[in-house]
Amino acid sequence: MKGVILAGGQGTRLDPLTRITNKHLLPVYDRPMVSYAIDSLVRAGITDVMLVTGGTHAGEFLRLLGNGHEWGLDRLLYAYQARPSGIADALSLAERFVQGDRVVVLLADNVFERSIRTSVERFREQEQGARILLAGVEDPAHLRHLGVPRLVDGTVQEILEKPDDPPSAYAVTGVYFYDPSVFEVLPTLRPSGRGELEITDVNNHFVRCGLMEYDVIDGFWGDAGESIDAYYMVNDFVRQFGANK
Ligand code: G1P
Repeated sequence: MKGVILAGGQGTRLDPLTRITNKHLLPVYDRPMVSYAIDSLVRAGITDVMLVTGGTHAGEFLRLLGNGHEWGLDRLLYAYQARPSGIADALSLAERFVQGDRVVVLLADNVFERSIRTSVERFREQEQGARILLAGVEDPAHLRHLGVPRLVDGTVQEILEKPDDPPSAYAVTGVYFYDPSVFEVLPTLRPSGRGELEITDVNNHFVRCGLMEYDVIDGFWGDAGESIDAYYMVNDFVRQFGANK
């Protein structure tokens, strides 16, 4: 299985910090944010990875990560997203790298307390389709900034992106597993209201086909790019308890 880390975007929600660097290079406790995504893959046994980034600070990733060996990777390739056109657009740049294999995609601003290894193993056993990781989130105001699944009898019926009226108390986190058919879905997408190709539209394709599985994660999950308060909450958590355990 290949790993793809998405570390592009403008990081407008963390402006002005992101005027001078890429969001995923900002510190989370004692390391740049992106290193937690790498760690998460390495600890799950995935060491063949592509990092997709963009913007004016893309070169700094090379300076930080080099060929990835120091960070536990066998191979680290890079792709450059010329325009901030969304998560699904960024993923399409990894098609030739993934080349018919299965892939786990991580948003580099997502930080997890626990290892994703069990879900990686479950996806290996899954015959086909896609898999997402859900995190319990109590606060509806928080859910309105995230992807939220409608769940009936233990299956995902639909995922709503940033819904006014969240249909469950779960967030779709930024870890997605796909079989190779994902690269046939990406060219069919149309830009959303925010002008981006949405990963939620990709996931809803698999939902409609009856090929979407999920795990509910244990432990803390945070999207450090969601707001400055979320960024500090993730920092405080990692400083106290660590990550990817
Ligand atoms: C993205 C996804 C959303 C998901 C979130 C997790 O949102 O679109 O479904 O819940 O990541 O971090 P974005 O950060 O692009 O607003």
